[in-house]
Parts: sequence; C-alpha cells; structure tokens
Amino acid sequence: MSNDAIVCRNPADARQIVARYDAHDADGVAAACARAHAAQPAWAMLPGPRRGELLHRAADLLQRRGQRLAQTIVAEEGKLRADAAGEVRRAAAVLRFHAGEAERGGGDLRDAAEPGGLAFTRRRALGVVGLITPWNFPIAIPAWKLAPALAAGNAAVIKPASAAPGATLGLLDALREAGVPEDVAQAVLGGADVGRALVDDPHVRAVSFTGSTAVGRELAERARARGARFQGELGGNNPLVVLADADPELALALACEGAFAAAGQKCTATRRLIVQEPLYEQVLEAFAGRARSLRMGAGDSDGAQVPPLISPAAAEDVAGAVTQARTLGADVLAGGVRPDGELRHGGFYAPTVIAGAQPGMRVLDDEVFGPVCAVLPARDLDDAIALANAVPYGLSASVCTNDLAHALRFVRGAEAGMVHVNRPTPGADPHMPFGGLKASTASGWREQGQEAVRFFSDQQTVYVHGGGPAG
Ligand code: UN1
Repeated sequence: MSNDAIVCRNPADARQIVARYDAHDADGVAAACARAHAAQPAWAMLPGPRRGELLHRAADLLQRRGQRLAQTIVAEEGKLRADAAGEVRRAAAVLRFHAGEAERGGGDLRDAAEPGGLAFTRRRALGVVGLITPWNFPIAIPAWKLAPALAAGNAAVIKPASAAPGATLGLLDALREAGVPEDVAQAVLGGADVGRALVDDPHVRAVSFTGSTAVGRELAERARARGARFQGELGGNNPLVVLADADPELALALACEGAFAAAGQKCTATRRLIVQEPLYEQVLEAFAGRARSLRMGAGDSDGAQVPPLISPAAAEDVAGAVTQARTLGADVLAGGVRPDGELRHGGFYAPTVIAGAQPGMRVLDDEVFGPVCAVLPARDLDDAIALANAVPYGLSASVCTNDLAHALRFVRGAEAGMVHVNRPTPGADPHMPFGGLKASTASGWREQGQEAVRFFSDQQTVYVHGGGPAG
C-alpha cells in the first residue's frame, strides 16, 4: 500500500465524500501478483465442479446482499437505484453461468489415429490474469471478467477504476466468503501507474481490459511486447438506424433507452440516431421532445430518470463536445446545458439531441461519454448502412424495421461486433459473446459466454494409449 488515498465523491453532489480507500503502488502490485502466482496451482487442481460450487455460493451471497451492494453503486457511481439493483443481479447471473461452465468443463473426445487409443482436448488454466475494469458497471464488468477467469482455474488480480471501487470489493468479499482462497482473487487499487504495473508484471499471462481506445491500445502494446494475451473492450459510437417501415413509437423508445439510460455512460449507448426519410423530421422532433421531458436527479431520488455523470469534470467534457458541435454549425434541439439549482453541484448534463452534425465534430468522431445523441437523415437503407459505418468504432449497431429482408441486409452490412434488430444498442447476456470490431476492440478476443472461457485458458491436446505391446 502507498499512502495515497483514493477519494470517492458523490456524483450527484461532488461536495460530499462518500468513501476513501488506500491505493497500491508498484510494489503492492508485484506482491499481489506473486501471491496469486503461489496460490494458483492449488486452485487449478480443484476439480471444475468444486470451483463451480464456490461460484454458485458467491452468487447466493451477492443476491442476499443485493440491496447493500446497490446502495454502494448508487453512492459511488451515481446510477439509478433500479439500475444498480439490476446490475447486481446481472453479476450474480454471470457467476452462475460460469459456475456451470466450470462444472461441465469442456473438450472433444476423438478416436486416436493409431489403433487402441483415444485423443481428446481439454482446457488448461493460464496462471495469473490481470483484469482492469471501468467505473460505469462496477460489479457487472468485474463479474464477467472474474467469473470465467476463476472458473478456468486462474488466479486473478483486478484493478477496478478508482472512481467507484466499492462494489468490486464487495464482489471479492463474496468470493472469499464463499470459499475462494484470498490470494486467488485480489484487488489492487490505484490509477494508471497501477494498471501499467499489472499489465507489465511477469506473472500475468493474460489481461482483460474495458475502457477507452487510447488506454486500451497502449496497454495492448505493453502486453504484446512481453507475449501476454490481451483482450480489450474499447470505445463505441453506436448507431440506431430507423427505417421508413419502422414503428415510430418503438423507434423512439429504443432511442431514449439507448441514448439516455445511465446518462449515456455505457460503451454500448446510442450516440447516433440515423433516420430514413420521410420519417426524419417527425422522429427528430419527437425525440427532442422526449429528451426535454426526462427528469434528471440523483440515483436514489424518487422519479429521477437521468442520473448524473460520474463527476462534474465528466459533465464539462461532454459540454465541451456539444459546444464544439454548436460552434461548427450543428443545431442543439434539446439539452446542451448543465442544470443550475441544487443539481449544479453534481455531474448532471441535460439529455441532448443534436441535428446537423458533421465529421470533424467530436460527437461523430469520438466516444462522448454522456447523454448526447446526434440525429442524421438517410436516403435509403444503403445510405443508412454507410452512415452507420462511417465512424472509427464498431461495437454495437441497431436497426428498427418491420421488414425482415431489410433487417438481414443491415446485419450483413453493419461493421459492428454486436447487431440488434428492434432492440436498443446497449445490452449484454452472460451466455453470448460481447465485443466489437474496428477501434472498439484491441485484439478481436471476445468476453462473456464460452468465448470468455477460451480467452482465459489454453487448449491441450492429449493422446492416450494403453502402454502394452499392442499400444
Ligand atoms: C450493456 O450494454 O448493458 O463498459 C453493458 C461498457 C460495456 C458494457 C455495456 N462494456 O459500458
């Protein structure tokens, strides 16, 4: 531990300090990785079903502590109470999925090419893995990295984001109380230096990271330089395409959910709404109206629909991107302001709808992490697909249509790792692979589902013969 304290402030009122934690330094990271390295072989020797049982037990504990953990998330991260409770349930579901994977194990059994033998494949733990997670899903994302890592027999050292580490520490408590040895699942706290020390540690065989494209690319290079496996879930600038045959009511509901839920602080949030003529004007106007009607408020206040951003500084960053768009000629039809009154002490930013955005504006070129959506017109399906793909990112893309042929053409044309039809751009399920294309991924590796098991293990091919003279 170093003497540097991590100070967490209430996103809804940054005057309030809600938690303090000790930070680690590089020596602390090295010590944690060394302990993990020493503890891992015994953990990997446990039969998979036994590891699965412990993960199930940890999921039980999360469910029992759901309310308390949700309160921690609201206090440190700021999201709405119901979303925080849902996130804890999601974390428990992820633990259960990977408990099942650990029970089942996996591999193929084949005849050997020589008479009398068998050939099979099995998965083998990597050793120690390093996990670096963001603040926006402080228990779900740690769960979907830790669960497959532990299920496969690895020891894990996780660095949660300093803005909201409390729920991640709660998850580690649950794992420990369920019977996972302390050194098999450890946290290190701190900033970028601690993250780099984790990626550079010689014991760490694989790194899974969720965060910005710039940081992800730097860490991926460091990992690659010493031959460690790297999986990076990076930024997004996700389109929702509304075709002329769509149900406009459904389109509006998907757009509001995608753009403004959690104040747009999801890598999968809808940042662009692409609407086919002749629906463009009608959808733009209605969407701006809905945005204006949404109520901002603290995550634990009654009736709040849009929570604060993680900090006033984050809200200022979003404000800068909207100001730039305005200066370069875009129209701001809703929002575009930080509220005054009591809310001015928090990271609040009004749900914002922008028309007339052009390349060269951050709202189209970057990942602006807030409740801001650019609405763009498209002539036809091909034009809509071209616009959807006209950004460096390729995480999630969605189409709203009642025509199956259009939907399937969109699926084939979309340069996105995840495509939704008549669903919002956010969303992830424990059993389905999650990840992006283009600048949204560091290496093409996916997380979640069975893909995560592959990432966190090596394959071993085994040939078995009887040993007698006949083989
Ligand atoms: C979701 O779409 O529900 O950091 C999850 C993020 C993503 C998770 C999105 N990795 O926002």
